[in-house]
Amino acid sequence: MQILRTVAELRTRVRGWKQDGRQVGVVPTMGALHEGHMSLVRAARRGCDRVIVTIFVNPMQFNNPDDLSKYPRTEDADAALLFREGVDILFAPGPDEVYPQGFDSRVLVGGVTAPLEGEMRPGHFEGVATVVAKLFGMTQADRAYFGQKDWQQLQVVRRMVTDLNIPVEVVGCETIREADGLAMSSRNARLDPLSRAQAPALHRIMVKTAAQIRGGSEIAASLAQARDDLRQAGFTEVEYLDLRTAAMLEPATGIEQPVRLLAAAWIGGVRLIDNIPV
Ligand code: PAJ
Repeated sequence: MQILRTVAELRTRVRGWKQDGRQVGVVPTMGALHEGHMSLVRAARRGCDRVIVTIFVNPMQFNNPDDLSKYPRTEDADAALLFREGVDILFAPGPDEVYPQGFDSRVLVGGVTAPLEGEMRPGHFEGVATVVAKLFGMTQADRAYFGQKDWQQLQVVRRMVTDLNIPVEVVGCETIREADGLAMSSRNARLDPLSRAQAPALHRIMVKTAAQIRGGSEIAASLAQARDDLRQAGFTEVEYLDLRTAAMLEPATGIEQPVRLLAAAWIGGVRLIDNIPV
C-alpha cells in the first residue's frame, strides 16, 4: 500500500491503472477507522480491481469548531488496518492540498439537504458535497462506497452524482453495529461507561417504533412515544426522530412507499445518529 499526499501523485498512479483497464474503487473517510469503515473497504476490494481509501478530516463540513478540533486522528493505526485489507492507495492529503490558496467554489445540492442533519448542522452538506465532488475528481474512481449509517449523506451524494453527471457508481452499504445494536461511529469512543451502556436504547427504540408503525399504529403518536422513551432511557436531547421518505427525506404520512426512521440524539455530551427502514 502506498500513502500519497498530493493530487499529482495520485493522478499519475490512477492514470496507469486506467490505461491497463482496471476498475477503481474509492472509500472516502475522515479516518479513525472502525469496522463500519472496514466493511466499505472490503466491499470495494470485492467489487474493484484497485482500491483507494481517502482520509481527510474536512474542515468545510464541520459547523462546530470544537467538534473539528476534537475529531480523532489516528492515521498510523488506520494505515495498518488498510494495509491488512489489501488497499492499494491511502490518499491522505493535508488541508492546503484540498483547499489551496484561491479555492472558491461550492457544490450546493437542493431539497434533500434541507431537513434533519441539514437543519441541525447548517452548511454541513455543502461541505460534504464539495469535498466528495473533489475526491471523485481527484481519484477518477469508477465506484464509490458509502455507508447507510449516514443515510441522508448517501442520498445527497446520489443526487449530486445524478445531477452533475459524475461518472461514478455510488454503492450504499449496510450499517455495521456493535453486538448490542449501537451503530459503530468514531464518536462512540467519547461515551463514558454509563452513556455507552445506555446508548443502544437508540437503536432498540427505533426498531420497536418501526415495528409498531408497520403494525398499523398511528405514526405521530408512535414517534412522540419514541421521543419520550429516548429521554427516559437517558438521552438528554432528541434533535429529531422522524419518519421520512427514503430518497427525498420528506415527511412520510404512510408506509405505502419506501420510508425510514431517522434520529439524532445526545447522550453524555455525544451526538449520535441512526436510521433504519420501516
Ligand atoms: P466518516 O464519518 O469517516 O465515514 C466514512 C464512511 O463510512 C461514510 O460513508 C459512512 O457512512 C461510513 N460509515 C460510518 N460508520 C458506519 C457504520 N457503522 N456502518 C457502515 N458504514 C459506516 O462520512 C464521512 O466520513 C464524511 O462525511 C465523508 C463522506 C468522508 C466526506 O468528508
